[in-house]
Formats: sequence, C-alpha cells, structure tokens
Amino acid sequence: MLALLCQLGAAGVLGTHDRKDVFDPPVLYPHAGTVWYKGQRHNVTWDVSDPPPYIINPVGRIFLRKGELILETNFDIMLGRIQVTVPWVLPDHDYSLILLYGDSGNFG
Ligand SMILES: *[C@@H]1O[C@H](CO)[C@@H](O)[C@H](O)[C@H]1NC(C)=O
Repeated sequence: MLALLCQLGAAGVLGTHDRKDVFDPPVLYPHAGTVWYKGQRHNVTWDVSDPPPYIINPVGRIFLRKGELILETNFDIMLGRIQVTVPWVLPDHDYSLILLYGDSGNFG
C-alpha cells in the first residue's frame, strides 16, 4: 500500500506568466491520508468549474513524488479527471501525488 501525504496538490506553473491566466484548480481526490494499493485504478479529480478566460497552462502532468514516478503526462487540464493505475512501488506511507498544471515546470 502507499499512503499519500498532504503535500498532495497542485504545483502550478511559476515564472513570468501573468498570474491571472494560470489555472490552478484544486484537487478533489485523492486527499491526504488516502491509501492506494498496487494495481488499483483511481480517478484523480480536480475542480475545473472556475477557469480563467484564457489558460496559458492547458496541459497537465501527474506523478508520484519519492522516486518521481510519472503516472500521466500531456492531458488536457480541463478534463478535471484522469484515471491512473497505482504502480509497483515499495510500500510506504509518505508518497505525495503531484498534479502539475502547465508543461514548463522544473520536473521535466
Ligand atoms: C474513472 O472515470 C471514468 C469515467 O467516468 C470511469 O469510466 C472509470 O470507471 C473511473 N475509474 C475508476 C477507477 O473509478
């Protein structure tokens, strides 16, 4: 099993962009303390009900931190949901799930 920590959440794009055009929707699921098991599928969901008129960071990525396992890349952030499959990882209790909005982060 892996339990997810509360660092879970969006790491939005940073830098020179005009802040108002950066869409940083809150994650709805999972939440801190959520426990996932290897091989399970889960829909990571986020709230897309209030986007700015023009989104400069339309593409998302999601990964598990602690080994930086990438789960999904290049999805449309307006989907509001992406199904991920829990990978084989060492059982532990301090994984963080990172949802990145924008393709210009520092984790490439
Ligand atoms: C994720 O959402 C899709 C679309 O609603 C659904 O078909 C799928 O069964 C869901 N997966 C899980 C693990 O709930």
